[in-house]
Amino acid sequence: MKERVKPSKSSISRRSFLGKSLAVGAGTIGAGLLANVPTARASGGLTAGDEAILRLLAAAELIEADLWQQYNELGGIQDPEVPGGTGSPAYTAAIQVLDEDMDQYIHDNTDDEITHAAFLNAYLASKGAEPVSLDQFRTLPSSQATGAQQIGRLTNLMQLTVDTSFWTRYRSDSLNPDFGDTLPQAVPGLAAGQFPAIPRNDGDLTPPDHLQAIANTAGFHFAWIEQAGTSVYASLAQRVTHNEVLRILLSIGGTEIMHFQTWQDKAGNAPPLTDPTNGLVFPDLNADGELTQTNLIMPEPTIFLNRTFPICSIIRPTETDGAAARAINGFIADGLFIGQPPAFFALLSQLIEAADHARHGGGGR
Ligand SMILES: [Fe+2]
Ligand SMILES: [Fe+2]
Repeated sequence: MKERVKPSKSSISRRSFLGKSLAVGAGTIGAGLLANVPTARASGGLTAGDEAILRLLAAAELIEADLWQQYNELGGIQDPEVPGGTGSPAYTAAIQVLDEDMDQYIHDNTDDEITHAAFLNAYLASKGAEPVSLDQFRTLPSSQATGAQQIGRLTNLMQLTVDTSFWTRYRSDSLNPDFGDTLPQAVPGLAAGQFPAIPRNDGDLTPPDHLQAIANTAGFHFAWIEQAGTSVYASLAQRVTHNEVLRILLSIGGTEIMHFQTWQDKAGNAPPLTDPTNGLVFPDLNADGELTQTNLIMPEPTIFLNRTFPICSIIRPTETDGAAARAINGFIADGLFIGQPPAFFALLSQLIEAADHARHGGGGR
């Protein structure tokens, strides 16, 4: 069930990128200049590495857009900008316990992801590169709760295992996963089972603490998704070659950081409780010291690059090695793809392998 995507040794993309690069290089640059071009050109001026990174990010954005769309249909604002559902008043109210503007924020985060995916694919196409489509994998079931559209989905929000170590990671002044450190869970129960973050059907709308536990799960999941986006853009930006591609990664990546910052503030308002149906516990995060204290939402300065430097307030992790694999494997471990077929994971593997082979100034495969 928890399939873990490992880059496979046999790469289809390597040969196809090289084939394209030779054709484009010979046709547009000329043999005499080729020796001075350090980088294989995949298409239209993008390096193979830049193309691979943009395609990985386009896939990640399609995945984000799909899951945020499901949140918006039930707990956000449905309008012409983000159409689809009709809303679940009880679920929306439970989410609004975290902040009365949650429905607006859910709507706007959804809108942002839709535009990220559309932009990245349009940019790829403008450079003669292949856009990413995951449409054939939009087959997972929708929530049966009143308010959700009945369409096929890419992601599953009803069996989530949410890693809440990001919470303590951003509150520690001495640990950083880039140094191999492991951070403790803020909500250990969420990381130790499978829980819905949206009502699976109208039966999930009661009893009240069960519905609130679902809303709390969503609240932490929102922050989890966006901290992943925060790190993957910062990591992969270090591997791109062209200034314009760097500009894209910094500009979109910055909005992921803004999302994360908003959501981790709101998640701190999730009321402590125990779900009477399954025993899931949301502890009082203000009862146990600074590592979980809810209002410590600014990134605590921590070790960076080398322990001999003074501690520094940073986003983390930002290590580049295996950054694409880390992000997508995180999605898989989260349970987002429970129900997807092997072909889906094979496609993710290809995208990861190509992106993680990109090198700044060095193309990719
Ligand atoms: Fe995004
Ligand atoms: Fe995002």
